[in-house]
Amino acid sequence: MIKASTTLALSLLATPLVVAQRQTLTVAASGGNQSSPLLYGTLYEDIYHSGDGGLYAELIRNRAFQGSSQNGQASTVRTTDFWHPIGNVQLSVEQSSPALSPSLTYDLRIDVPSGTTGPIGFYNDGFWGFDVDATKRYAASFSIKGAYNGGVTVGFNNTLSGTQLSKTTIQVNSSDGVWTSVHPAVFQPFSTPGSPNSTFTYIFDGAQLAGKSIQVNLLSVFKQTYKDRPNGVREDLAASFDGLESTWVRLPGGNNMQGLSIGNEWHWDRTYGDLKNRTGHIGTWGDYQTDGFGVLEMMQWATDSNQTLVLGIFAGLHIGGALVTEDNLGGYVDSTMNYLEFLKGDTSTTWGARRANLGFPIPFKIDHIEIGNEDYLNGGTESYNTYRFKAFYDRIRAEYPDITLISSISPPPISGPNTWADLHFYYNQDTFASLYDRFDNSDRSLPIVVGEYACIFEFSNGYPEIGAQTMGMALAEGIMLLGAERNSDIVKGTAYGALIKQYDEMSSTVSVIKHTANQILQTTSYYLQQTFSRYKGTETVAVTSEFGSGIGPLYWSATRAGSTRYLKLINYYGVDSVVDIVFEGPYSSTVKVITLTAPACNSTNSLPQLGGESTSILHSELDESDGKFTVSFRSPCELKVVIA
Ligand SMILES: *[C@@H]1O[C@H](CO)[C@@H](O)[C@H](O)[C@H]1NC(C)=O
Ligand SMILES: *[C@@H]1O[C@H](CO)[C@@H](O)[C@H](O)[C@H]1NC(C)=O
Ligand SMILES: *[C@@H]1O[C@H](CO)[C@@H](O)[C@H](O)[C@H]1NC(C)=O
Ligand SMILES: *[C@@H]1O[C@H](CO)[C@@H](O)[C@H](O)[C@H]1NC(C)=O
Ligand SMILES: *[C@@H]1O[C@H](CO)[C@@H](O)[C@H](O)[C@H]1NC(C)=O
Ligand SMILES: *[C@@H]1O[C@H](CO)[C@@H](O)[C@H](O)[C@H]1NC(C)=O
Ligand SMILES: *[C@@H]1O[C@H](CO)[C@@H](O)[C@H](O)[C@H]1NC(C)=O
Repeated sequence: MIKASTTLALSLLATPLVVAQRQTLTVAASGGNQSSPLLYGTLYEDIYHSGDGGLYAELIRNRAFQGSSQNGQASTVRTTDFWHPIGNVQLSVEQSSPALSPSLTYDLRIDVPSGTTGPIGFYNDGFWGFDVDATKRYAASFSIKGAYNGGVTVGFNNTLSGTQLSKTTIQVNSSDGVWTSVHPAVFQPFSTPGSPNSTFTYIFDGAQLAGKSIQVNLLSVFKQTYKDRPNGVREDLAASFDGLESTWVRLPGGNNMQGLSIGNEWHWDRTYGDLKNRTGHIGTWGDYQTDGFGVLEMMQWATDSNQTLVLGIFAGLHIGGALVTEDNLGGYVDSTMNYLEFLKGDTSTTWGARRANLGFPIPFKIDHIEIGNEDYLNGGTESYNTYRFKAFYDRIRAEYPDITLISSISPPPISGPNTWADLHFYYNQDTFASLYDRFDNSDRSLPIVVGEYACIFEFSNGYPEIGAQTMGMALAEGIMLLGAERNSDIVKGTAYGALIKQYDEMSSTVSVIKHTANQILQTTSYYLQQTFSRYKGTETVAVTSEFGSGIGPLYWSATRAGSTRYLKLINYYGVDSVVDIVFEGPYSSTVKVITLTAPACNSTNSLPQLGGESTSILHSELDESDGKFTVSFRSPCELKVVIA
């Protein structure tokens, strides 16, 4: 993702509606090029709480006092943010002595005034509230230091009604000077409020603590996870992701993998094992990251979702601009080789055995690696071309000759078999529509991925980014994708940037999926990608128009799988467009038509509570008449797939 520049010019040209001349499209029976099975994929990174507070199913925010967000920047400053007292107690964050672990060295200290009686404690705000659902299991755990022998009552408190939505008493017997881990208490709430307006409360017997203090750390509440994985991901978000029908995912980024500065690049080896061993790190997108959603959790999720894995590795350039010199790069390359052994090695290898000990005996299938990310930024091109790419390329090629290596700069510094280039497109609508023929004359010897794309501005407007993706913006992306599909002998994959963002935090920039604590927004781009992915063949087939190649308001691409042909048609700001279709070779006299439509070109999808989705998907059938199928578009912004 490239941050929007504030110096872009503002122009207010709107794409006008166009009257299309009726034309006949002829779809060949065969004779195309092979399509890439990976054409429609994704980029996952933790951006605006897509990991912590998003996919990662931990519900407690600031659970281990690892860092914070200061003026929108991730920071190691420890705070009591998102924690509040219950009763007349004082909360502070202090350096622990002894610490819970070498990685979690701060705790939340609760000072209880002498003379206190009755319930006291503290509560957490969650990530913009909590998803409380009476049909699901939850598990609460924490660590405590200080003498306390009795019950700690934990549960959800609805702040709108003031009622408790769950209540579980955990027996604790802890002592001064040592940490006691309270094992997960499993519970189900009494009711489902349907709003995120809840807190999670921890209540102690105040009389027992009067005049004393206790410390707590690693306070965790998980909702039941996708496929019931321990330390796993949020069920509803994972299901939404599965519904996208993505075939591959690049992870863990992206700019977040690069890190803002030296030391804050993605350190795979700090993100596995006991949560007590995860220090976390300064995230690129404004908040400190717990690293609870670590390398193995990510791989588990992507594998559970049947994704082809594309591993993004740090190549020596930080998104903040710092560059690793040639002399210092060796350690990063060594670490990457260990990383690959950790993920791919069998149990006879050192790192493969370590992975197996962590509960993952089966190696992950990783056949694609991207070396770096956007290495042309911050003056990175020269070092990438001279030493950075080569350092990783040579070592990985030597050990894993069959892995596909992807260069973040095109053309790659070293060309060769199984070497691809990654292009990133963040443009306005008009530019996206102009990418329809972008790949038609591309060098056939260089496979590419469009590893990040998003239409971020309407029409020719340069600023600001339009977070409510309109149907027109999604179709502009679709026009680029039609070109990718037509050329998918060389365009191996595409992925939108970004996949998931937290709506309360970031509603004003684009994402495929946005979430709140308890709701999900699937954008116009989501449904566009889903439709593109769901209806695709294994081979391209030629489509010809009586008017030649034809540009606007109708755009198309066709593929086939066996004898089934899929013709995708985008009507882009076309008024009453009508097109006649002729299928060469054998075909059935009735074809299916899938329509992705919206009331207007500027329609957007919203959260359920804010009006819901404007897009709809219609299924219909169409009969042949005089050797043709006549397709009419009802809306000026519509995608149709004709399945013959
Ligand atoms: C197949 O690829 C070639 C270029 O290698 C191109 O000229 C031709 O149009 C493609 N065929 C189809 C049906 O897209
Ligand atoms: C629950 O929330 C209500 C409303 O904010 C508040 O008045 C009440 O004290 C809370 N209860 C607990 C146990 O925190
Ligand atoms: C609490 O723990 C102490 C040791 O730390 C033990 O001596 C005592 O019996 C325990 N009390 C109960 C009620 O379990
Ligand atoms: C709670 O509800 C109010 C509306 O009553 C809303 O403005 C607020 O953002 C909600 N807060 C949380 C944390 O859900
Ligand atoms: C946690 O880290 C310590 C070293 O700080 C190490 O000895 C231990 O094996 C680690 N535990 C796990 C479960 O990774
Ligand atoms: C998993 O993905 C592969 C390759 O895309 C596909 O052939 C297979 O049907 C998928 N399996 C499931 C269970 O979706
Ligand atoms: C959408 O476009 C219509 C004209 O087609 C206009 O009247 C309306 O104000 C637009 N809505 C938004 C939210 O821009």
